[in-house]
Amino acid sequence: MDRLSVPPQEFRRLASHAVDVTARYLDRLSELPSFPPTTHDDVRAAFDRPLPERGLGAAALDDLEIVLRHSRPCGPAFFGYVLGSGEPVAAVADLVASVLNQNVTAWRSGPAAVTIERTVVRWLAEAIGCKDFTGSFTGGGSMANLMALAMARGTSPTGTLYASAEAHMSIPKAAALLGLGYDAVRAVVVDASFRMVPEALDRAIRDDLASGKRPIAVIATAGTVAMGSIDPLDAVAEVAKAHGLWLHVDGAYGALAALAVPETFRGLDRADSISIDPHKWLYQPLDCGCLLYRDPAVARATFSHTGDYAQSLQSDPDEGFAFFEESLELSRRFRALKVWLSLRYHGVEAFREAIRGDLALAQRLASRIDAEPALERLAPVALSAVCFRHEGSDDFNRRILQRIIRRGRVYISNATIGGRFALRACIVNHRSRPEDVDAIVSETLAAAAEVA
Ligand SMILES: Cc1ncc(COP(=O)(O)O)c(C=O)c1O
Repeated sequence: MDRLSVPPQEFRRLASHAVDVTARYLDRLSELPSFPPTTHDDVRAAFDRPLPERGLGAAALDDLEIVLRHSRPCGPAFFGYVLGSGEPVAAVADLVASVLNQNVTAWRSGPAAVTIERTVVRWLAEAIGCKDFTGSFTGGGSMANLMALAMARGTSPTGTLYASAEAHMSIPKAAALLGLGYDAVRAVVVDASFRMVPEALDRAIRDDLASGKRPIAVIATAGTVAMGSIDPLDAVAEVAKAHGLWLHVDGAYGALAALAVPETFRGLDRADSISIDPHKWLYQPLDCGCLLYRDPAVARATFSHTGDYAQSLQSDPDEGFAFFEESLELSRRFRALKVWLSLRYHGVEAFREAIRGDLALAQRLASRIDAEPALERLAPVALSAVCFRHEGSDDFNRRILQRIIRRGRVYISNATIGGRFALRACIVNHRSRPEDVDAIVSETLAAAAEVA
């Protein structure tokens, strides 16, 4: 007797229980505190228990309620980091993906999964105005950036990369992992709106060439992590192309907003590779990043190191297709199912509208902050990240942030802008309402009064 087998009626009972618990959770989401009233000791007491030698059966699921109670809710007033809100139709797909347990390595391991992933990647590329691109899903933007820079580098053991000083930390990390070193990334000067200055980029490349360095790639950011600034993609592409360099656009935060405001991303289609993160601004549950690239031959030259055991016997190019020939990942989850189901359920127009809604909420927040004498906005709002501070020291603002989170009405995070501590709200949340955004201002003022 297989002790791990679960009869279908038992699976139905377990899954129904999980659905009941999570549906109740979704129902209460807007009332939950933005951070659970918990401490490390509470959480450890709840979960740090011995490994059970004997199974609990269905009673094992009872503690799901406790997991929920100690989790940070993805409710309408969550504005921290850059984190999508977890669209529930996609969550249903994640259950199905786990049951199917397709390993999306190659067509022969999952015909539907591979075909759906290739289709959805094409949908997304077309939807952001880059119809000639192909690509694959990844664990996130960091992995997509690493893969893109591996492709840009080719076999060169050394070289320099160019990104604005506002580029995401995954860029220097990728440079280090690729053996180029952290210092291989040149921090190109930004303007007053935190956008890379193309003339400074050109100068940096020329200086490096003159001193015998080997420029490899330019990384433009379409939505910087701190304040959402968008590098001038067209002008940056011009410089990169003039020097024959690879252009990668890190659009992990922002590029999916091209669905809603394509004019803001002019030049995006001139990239050689683009990172986008459906688990950010397409509201998909983690994890779901994506790397798009123009030339699959470069991806294959970079990632195709196929062992004998994995050689395809297919002569048909589609049935012989293998993601692992174009990706760093071998075993891969069926991430595309959630995006596919979510897009089919709602239609892309609903996503465009949600993104436009987030953009409008960010402008609303910016004007509320501008109207409040005790608050100062620290950067223009190009997308949906709003950086500001209360009058007073960095330390005072740090304590305000801790107090805001403890008060539990909204969740925001922080950034450093021009060397100063900033409070930061990032709106990539399909659940957010105007009153949630207005509460950022009222909660900041209330927290400041309490801390003072
Ligand atoms: C601009 C940018 N690039 C890359 C990343 C990394 O993405 P991930 O967290 O999915 O690895 C982020 C994350 O916030 C980001 O904002």
